[in-house]
Amino acid sequence: MSVIIAIANQKGGVGKTTTAVTLAHGLALRGKRTLIVDLDSQGNVADYLGMESGPELARLLNPVLAEPVAKCTISSGRENLDVVRSDKTTVALKTALSGLDFREFALAEALDKSDGYEYIILDCAPSVDVLHTAALVAADWLIAPTQLSQGSVKGVRDLLVSLADVHRKRRTVCQLAGVLPTFYDRVTGESQGQLENLVKNFRRFVLPPIPADTKTREASRAGKTLFEYAPTCRALVGVASNGGRAEGGYNQVIDRLLEVLR
Ligand SMILES: Nc1ncnc2c1ncn2[C@@H]1O[C@H](COP(=O)(O)OP(=O)(O)OP(=O)(O)O)[C@@H](O)[C@H]1O
Ligand SMILES: [Mg+2]
Repeated sequence: MSVIIAIANQKGGVGKTTTAVTLAHGLALRGKRTLIVDLDSQGNVADYLGMESGPELARLLNPVLAEPVAKCTISSGRENLDVVRSDKTTVALKTALSGLDFREFALAEALDKSDGYEYIILDCAPSVDVLHTAALVAADWLIAPTQLSQGSVKGVRDLLVSLADVHRKRRTVCQLAGVLPTFYDRVTGESQGQLENLVKNFRRFVLPPIPADTKTREASRAGKTLFEYAPTCRALVGVASNGGRAEGGYNQVIDRLLEVLR
């Protein structure tokens, strides 16, 4: 059975796709067979992996075609990492799904038949739509990236309200794996204050923060993962804290996930 992790936040530009792609490639590099599923019609997962966007998500969830997952995955060209790509055909898919009963279960059902992936990462769009709900229904775990700025606590609360709603109405079991602070800037008081505020509200659920790092934007533009573009960059390895220990970064987040999510 795969461990399914949804990366979601209804706010735009908070680092969801960067997190999804980095975690997926990080897990793949540690020898875990991993699938990343793009649920956003922007098709950014393919961009960030240096691939063309594609219609496989719409084919996978098309209520008439109902193609098996094995026919809708393609290799990312990286060992252990396959992709279900998305593109603008996902817009029509959402319209087609919206008329159906049990539409929110379509993704869970499709992924149930996927074979041999240890981890499946779901990259959600910045909206609360049928695919957002479908991701929370399909996932075992939720990671909520949140930019450290005013309003981040409220954004995560809104997401947890939609998670509770999914639990209540559809009797599913997706649990919060963590709130992931992104764009962390140690030198600005604002970032620090917002991080403390998140910890006050969400306590042990707050994951190691991801430093703001221009290499991240450069990597995504170049269609390379951070491990390929800048393996020693701050977004991966963190920043030195006062005691000299590395603080934050995606590598620490991956370590934590491998310990906790099984
Ligand atoms: N830690 C970071 N430091 C600097 N830039 C970052 C960081 N994380 C992401 N970015 C950049 O910010 C932009 C938005 O990131 P990303 O696409 O991951 O966000 P998103 O939440 O998926 O956006 P959307 O809501 O549109 O799907 C991208 O250009 C990305 O390279
Ligand atoms: Mg995105």
